[in-house]
Amino acid sequence: NNPPWPAYRGYHEYSFAHATMQSRLPTILGKAIEDVTRTLNEQSSEERVVDLVQCIDRMGELMTDLSGNAKLRPIIDDDEADVALWNKEIAKYFQGKDFMNAPWLFAEAYKYRRLHECFSVSKFWRDYDVFYRQKCDTFSRSADAVFELSQRFAEPFKLPEEDTPEQKLEAERLMFLELTQVCLWGNSTDLSLLINMTEEQIKSLQSTGGDHLAATEKNILGNHLGKLWEHVKNLREKTGGRVDFVLDNAGFELYCDCVYADFLIQSGLAKQIRFHGKRYPWFVSDVTKKDWEWLMNIMVYGALFPKATDAELESLRRLGERWKNYEKEGKWVYEQHPFWCTGYTFWDLHSEAPDLFLHLSRSDLVIFKGDLNHRKLTYDCAAPASTPFEVAIGPMANAAGAPVVASLRTIKSDVVVGLGTDGDEIAEKLDESEPGWKISGKYAVVLVSEGRPG
Ligand code: F6P
Ligand code: MG
Repeated sequence: NNPPWPAYRGYHEYSFAHATMQSRLPTILGKAIEDVTRTLNEQSSEERVVDLVQCIDRMGELMTDLSGNAKLRPIIDDDEADVALWNKEIAKYFQGKDFMNAPWLFAEAYKYRRLHECFSVSKFWRDYDVFYRQKCDTFSRSADAVFELSQRFAEPFKLPEEDTPEQKLEAERLMFLELTQVCLWGNSTDLSLLINMTEEQIKSLQSTGGDHLAATEKNILGNHLGKLWEHVKNLREKTGGRVDFVLDNAGFELYCDCVYADFLIQSGLAKQIRFHGKRYPWFVSDVTKKDWEWLMNIMVYGALFPKATDAELESLRRLGERWKNYEKEGKWVYEQHPFWCTGYTFWDLHSEAPDLFLHLSRSDLVIFKGDLNHRKLTYDCAAPASTPFEVAIGPMANAAGAPVVASLRTIKSDVVVGLGTDGDEIAEKLDESEPGWKISGKYAVVLVSEGRPG
């Protein structure tokens, strides 16, 4: 049940796998140690200090394993809901493998699981998030784009009464296409690539204006936006009208996801949105429950933007209040299945997490956000760029009950599929003219698979 192409591995020097395993991951871990040290220096209780020092020691061991390319050992039983899944996968497929010769996707996920283990076996620091400061800080430095969106969307979405049904549908279509792009490009600001971003860098990644969107659509190399709208416009008629977001990053990306989800609810296109997040810190900036709650509460009660005007703050508060109400009314539901924090690709979702597969199969549309989810959908393997999306995602497209799936992803790693029949030539040309095109986040794909009824 595997695709016919080889998965990327850390020793593949031509791929981003190598740079990631060799230098990005140790850098990220080093920064995490700095964060915990800062927390340590703020503590007073001896018990807590001693417990935290032990966490730091374990992080040191992980650093030694990672930089010394040690063999992947089983995960310690820390009572986490995913530990059995992890150790089953290690025992079954990766006995004797090390960080460099195990598939990149697995080895990278394993590193985040080991990082979690440094804290999950402690007494006081089980839920400590080494990336939390960074996540909050980057959102606070995203003021321009945050207020641009809040001021536009605080007022509930309404179409002029006098419009004909055709005019209304056209206005909805345009809004849908714009917000799908807002949601898509929100993915370019993940923190694992952009540690220490300047305010200017953040700004240039986050401009959300209309002209800008017309220009950026050219950079969507595999573009199923039209097909996505054809599907979404019919959701209104469905009894359920449920859309699921498999979330990626916290802060600005999550904020964009929520603006998009808000439109889907207000327009009546969807009746319920289910958001799927991670149970613990994952790939630096991925959304956890705490990040979700932080965003909603900071919007309503926070004082994160000292330079903002009263009107700007008011718009953010109104938006936040509406979103919190959706949660109270059950229109928005936040979930965190253990499977999302494992090393499995989504080729194994139906077999390793059948309950989750069944749950997703009841959705009318499952939107996967970001690069990592895309790697997981496609098995992170060297499939040609012309490979149709449905073929590249295997069982998530063709297993009985596979839902309609959309992947909204800015391209930040090697695997690229769904570029159409001339996709291989397009990719070859970019390889020549822009060698870093697969990791810059400048290009994107919006790909849709129609699924298969159960
Ligand atoms: O490190 C692997 C990777 O998938 C990168 O390609 C990407 O920069 C990062 O992880 C996470 O990206 P995203 O937050 O979009 O999943
Ligand atoms: Mg991420």
